[in-house]
Amino acid sequence: MAKLENDTFIRALLRQPTPYTPVWVMRQAGRYLPEYNATRARAGSFLALAKNPDLATEVTLQPLARFPLDAAIIFSDILTIPDAMGLGLYFVEGEGPKFERPLRDEWEIRNLTAPDPTEHLRYVLDAIAHSRRALDNRVPLIGFSGSPYTLACYMVEGGASADFRLIKTMMYSRPELLHHVLDTIADAVTAYLNAQIEAGAQAVMIFDTWGGSLSTRAYREYSLAYMQRIVAGLTRTRDGETVPRIVFTKGGGAWLEEIAAIGADAVGLDWSIDIGNARSRIGDKAALQGNLDPAVLHGSPERICSEAGAVLAAFGSGSGHVFNLGHGISQHTPPEHVGVLVDAVHDLSRAYH
Ligand code: CP3
Repeated sequence: MAKLENDTFIRALLRQPTPYTPVWVMRQAGRYLPEYNATRARAGSFLALAKNPDLATEVTLQPLARFPLDAAIIFSDILTIPDAMGLGLYFVEGEGPKFERPLRDEWEIRNLTAPDPTEHLRYVLDAIAHSRRALDNRVPLIGFSGSPYTLACYMVEGGASADFRLIKTMMYSRPELLHHVLDTIADAVTAYLNAQIEAGAQAVMIFDTWGGSLSTRAYREYSLAYMQRIVAGLTRTRDGETVPRIVFTKGGGAWLEEIAAIGADAVGLDWSIDIGNARSRIGDKAALQGNLDPAVLHGSPERICSEAGAVLAAFGSGSGHVFNLGHGISQHTPPEHVGVLVDAVHDLSRAYH
């Protein structure tokens, strides 16, 4: 295998020295890019785009053609697993993801099985292999999955939820049923991420978007424990290279020490926490990824530079920081502001390395 031309992202995740702080942007291939909207229109829908490996490869590379990002992330969605489990994923414009057959009855839950990724999620694995070829070792490719708890939220609620009433009702009335759901999803995620690594993903990230809605005790039992199990089951090296793992719980600032202890290489941070505080709490247990407020990208170029500089200064000197937003980029972001951010991170961070 040829070596990566730019391995700063992998090195930072492994807390090895880099000449500058690498940067990528959550949802970097998305609706703020006119070329993304054009490809999506050609595909017909978001799901048709995600399920077409050639078009998914095209959009995976779009942000890299514009900005000198230090990593690519495969264009897909966390809800591919529940879709492969037969729940029937669809999107309603303006309302987000929905399932035709949410998990409500005990018999449906008892019948749930982990899909074979090489069969039911082949399109993702093909998109990864195609994207690796198209990237030609310029930068690494990130694979990803949702966390078991976050996927269970969508599967039980049937879509987005403001209060998570249905899944929390299950949690506090039939905990063994919810554990069965999470157990099955954890097996599915482990197999899926390992298949992504096999197909060419050079780092993997687990998105725990809704773990932050839980109490501390419930977070440990229903979210963190399952992510720990997944991390322990992941392929560690591929083609002689370490495959770093990133775990991101949105709203998880109160639990950073515990998150850093599950064996992942890096902890993702949302924008609510000071990254210097996070670093002092985690120490050398893990690298950090984050954590600019995505809303900063609506501000002026000068302000984007100063806010990015403040995040870099808060992290301080040394390796172990991958710059990112604290959550996905807004579709209303002017694309040129992403260019301002990436250049600012590259320029301003050299002083810290
Ligand atoms: O980061 C990347 O560029 C990779 C692609 C990616 C997408 N979704 C593409 C996408 C990733 C990593 C995700 C993860 C994802 N999907 C999460 C976890 C991260 C987070 O945001 O907390 C969640 C919760 C989802 C579920 C989901 N999929 C939502 C809430 C939406 C938005 C629905 C809407 O209408 O706003 C999606 C759709 C989606 N996934 C889009 C993209 C670019 C927009 C779809 C479109 O083109 O209409």
